[in-house]
Amino acid sequence: MSDATRPRRLHLGLSISSAWTGGNAWRRPGSRVEDLNGAPLFLELARDAEQAGLDFVFRADGVGVEPEHLDRHPGGLLDPVPILAAISAVTSHIGLVGTASTSFSEPYNLARAFGTLDLVSDGRAGWNVVTSQTGERNFGKEQIPEHSERYERAGEFVEVVKALWASWPREAIVLDRATGRYADASRIRPIDHHGAFYSVAGPLNVPSSRQGAPVVFQAGASEDGRRLAARHADAIFAATPTAEVARELRDDLHARSAALGRERAPLVLPGLHAYIADTEAQAQALYREVRADDDIEDGFQRLERLFGISFRGFELDRPVPGEALPDISGVRFSQTHAERFRRLFVEERLSLRRVIFEHVLTGAGHWRVIGAPEQVAEWVAERFLAEADDGNVLIPGVYPESFRSFFDAVVPVLKERGLFPTEYHGTTLRDHLGLPRGGAEAAPVPVGASAAAERD
Ligand SMILES: Cc1cc2nc3c(=O)[nH]c(=O)nc-3n(C[C@H](O)[C@H](O)[C@H](O)COP(=O)(O)O)c2cc1C
Repeated sequence: MSDATRPRRLHLGLSISSAWTGGNAWRRPGSRVEDLNGAPLFLELARDAEQAGLDFVFRADGVGVEPEHLDRHPGGLLDPVPILAAISAVTSHIGLVGTASTSFSEPYNLARAFGTLDLVSDGRAGWNVVTSQTGERNFGKEQIPEHSERYERAGEFVEVVKALWASWPREAIVLDRATGRYADASRIRPIDHHGAFYSVAGPLNVPSSRQGAPVVFQAGASEDGRRLAARHADAIFAATPTAEVARELRDDLHARSAALGRERAPLVLPGLHAYIADTEAQAQALYREVRADDDIEDGFQRLERLFGISFRGFELDRPVPGEALPDISGVRFSQTHAERFRRLFVEERLSLRRVIFEHVLTGAGHWRVIGAPEQVAEWVAERFLAEADDGNVLIPGVYPESFRSFFDAVVPVLKERGLFPTEYHGTTLRDHLGLPRGGAEAAPVPVGASAAAERD
């Protein structure tokens, strides 16, 4: 069923990465910051999100840590797959989306880890594809590879992983005790991939789950990122601070995936960085409390790392001139964020001080909402009904308020309005996202296609 004919419904996920410890939030009593490096808190959050009927929990990831950052900010990043596997044992419906890097992993290992998560969760796994912007020195590299090279490698990487997921369909297992036949080996096939970056024989040594293959998410909205997403992603986790930014991304991805002959475009699910309390005034007070000690030095350091130039010579209360900024297509790190900050200076004429305190230090360029539950429900519905997005991934600003208010007050309003289902219709992540079965049954992406298409 194509996009045009399929009834739209809002999709909601929960980010269980520790954004709720940002700024001063971790110093608040009851912030559970002491529970960041263990499982119990994440099992609890996932159960609460399932109780509210959310489609999935999302876990970000990175492959390195800066000790000096830990001086004033909580940190440590537990590997998503073991955490999500633990969650799968205490939940039955909610989807489990974990992030893993194409720059610092091997396709066979990653396909096996997420294939296993998909089996142990009975078809609830998703993989968020990232190319990483840090961690290179933990993998023998002095510098993060160039942006375009990271994405070219990622294109082939995703192809290989998808081919591996399709290489052992669960239906190949015949389990005939009478004849002693375990599987129909003719349906378990090598992939014999030989590409620019990888040579992988296959098949994978993990059969597919009931949903056929994990769902593929992607997060990166640069030109390279959009090409990868249009070709391979089932859903996009995006940073879209305004409805216009969201709509432009969604329309563009719809056009690109249609041009590639895909029946359905990736779902666009922007982050919703939320500070929610009973009244808007209380929510604003919460936000101010959390951001009260933001340090401009952190802002300078992040901008300098992103753009590769110093910002200390610019007037704080004036926009940075566009001509002083490097060409975004040459930015090695996040081109999405660099472009966002450039537009704030050049198009929205924001001062350096405002860009640092309102955007760089707060929420990674996501849509930030500060308000009472009914307001937040209205804002979420408005963007969805305007087809600026297909739903959101909640990034709670503080624990427990932003979680509790969203589950207990925002979601019920969206259910009452008939925008979000009152119960689960199916048990796999693909069921929740309205996606067809993946793996061997999915429309095949010919191995080696991506690199060829890139050259076109
Ligand atoms: C919502 C969202 C979540 C992301 N999660 C991660 C993550 O968990 N790990 C990571 O290394 N990068 C993460 N990223 C960064 C992206 O992978 C990507 O590097 C960034 O968006 C810049 O992409 P671009 O250069 O294609 O614009 C995330 C980005 C967004 C927008």
